[in-house]
Amino acid sequence: MRISKDEYKEKSTNVVSYKEQAERMRALQSEQRKVVEKMKRIPYKIAVLSSKGGVGKSFVTSNLAIAMSSIGKNVAVLDADFHGPSIPRMLGLSSTKGLLAKEDGSIVPAVGANGVKAVSVGLMLPEEDTPVIWRGSLKTTAIRQLLAYTDWEGIEYLFIDLPPGTGDEQLTIAQIIPHLTGFLLVTIPSEVSKHVVKKAAAFARKLNIPLLGIIENMSYFKCPDGSVQYIFGKGAAEEISAEYNIAFLGKIPIDPKIRESNDRGEAFFLKYPDLEASKSFMSIAKKLLEVIEKQKVT
Ligand SMILES: Nc1ncnc2c1ncn2[C@@H]1O[C@H](COP(=O)(O)OP(=O)(O)OP(=O)(O)O)[C@@H](O)[C@H]1O
Ligand SMILES: [Mg+2]
Repeated sequence: MRISKDEYKEKSTNVVSYKEQAERMRALQSEQRKVVEKMKRIPYKIAVLSSKGGVGKSFVTSNLAIAMSSIGKNVAVLDADFHGPSIPRMLGLSSTKGLLAKEDGSIVPAVGANGVKAVSVGLMLPEEDTPVIWRGSLKTTAIRQLLAYTDWEGIEYLFIDLPPGTGDEQLTIAQIIPHLTGFLLVTIPSEVSKHVVKKAAAFARKLNIPLLGIIENMSYFKCPDGSVQYIFGKGAAEEISAEYNIAFLGKIPIDPKIRESNDRGEAFFLKYPDLEASKSFMSIAKKLLEVIEKQKVT
């Protein structure tokens, strides 16, 4: 019996593709080993999760990073939001700045506001408006490679900014970072946000990732006449905190100075320390520090 030419061609093509698959598998395992090695050296790794879009995750991530940096900690942010990266702007980094690579190929994080280091696809695009059109598998690979090949030397606190949802990016972070310190939840007070953020809490529980606390953002607005408007309703964070037994870290009001500062890449709480929002934010950062330092696993 002879193998036909076509069959032979098909089989040999398969042999090559098996080889390729084996090589890919080896590369993937080597990257994962690097991730484990590098992440083990970072004592605190905190991912900011919400499921809901537009509630202030990137604002909370960038400002908490600045808060930790301003008390002398060595802090970095990984922007895992590839489609809507906000970290470069919120840390005062120009999106056209680019990221440097060392001779050994490792990525050097950019240095943003108050010395916070940042790695973001938003810093690698040709123009600020260039869209990132990636499917899930590409995003998983990008997260793994950014974790594996960035020079995280000396970093004590790694904050990870996540996009909305409980999909590829959130799952990848939960599964490939060993001893993730935990997820930090952010919600606004609305019913719509409450129900979506509960999904994020349930997601963390399913994956056995600690829930470090919940922050309620945009809780109220204080009018110039002193009256208080609960624009998005009341009580969402308290309800989630009680139902999922998560530490309630505090409330941040709506304040135009927050939005302006985020757009300028500055920390509102350092520029306007007397604002009610700044005091609430500092108290939240202090509580979070207490919670995470209890969770330390090296
Ligand atoms: N408390 C606040 N007061 C005023 N503006 C705020 C406040 N919190 C966030 N913002 C502004 O609201 C907008 C949305 O915030 P942000 O980008 O942090 O949300 P997000 O949850 O990261 O969104 P996405 O889901 O798209 O990633 C930003 O312009 C930010 O500056
Ligand atoms: Mg965001």
